[in-house]
Amino acid sequence: MEASKDPAQPRIWHLVGRVSQFPDIGDDEKGCQVLSGCKTLSIPKTDVQEQSQGNRFSDLGDQVLVFKYKGFLHAIDNQCPHSAFPLKQGNVFDIEDLGAGIKCFRHGWKFDLFTGKGDRGSHKLPLWDIELRDPCVSEIDEKLSSTDKEVWVRRPPQS
Ligand code: FES
Repeated sequence: MEASKDPAQPRIWHLVGRVSQFPDIGDDEKGCQVLSGCKTLSIPKTDVQEQSQGNRFSDLGDQVLVFKYKGFLHAIDNQCPHSAFPLKQGNVFDIEDLGAGIKCFRHGWKFDLFTGKGDRGSHKLPLWDIELRDPCVSEIDEKLSSTDKEVWVRRPPQS
């Protein structure tokens, strides 16, 4: 695990599941709602230990939202940068030239999923790092393929 130089903001990696556990919401006929195929995890900023896995709810500012859209995995803050509404209730949409964005359900602000840039003001959506890793041989379940990579996320700096 890699730690930040700032002990107040450890940037450690967190396992959030296997690639196969994230259905592609781009295949969703109901308008690409994030809720249908996402995982929301609570990862407190100041704790060096992994706190939780699965769909648990706590302080919105500590939550990461992970989902797949048109073949790309995304990990973002679940909290809208405008006024702290949960983005898992938002909708994902295409931006020309293979881009994608998320539209907040609350006031309709949009954020680019590859840059974090918002369409209004200087608000920017924090994007988490994502890394795909081969599963440990000892942890390979008979039901899961050894080619089904693990999905790890890491909080962005200054998030
Ligand atoms: S809270 Fe998300 S756009 Fe206002």
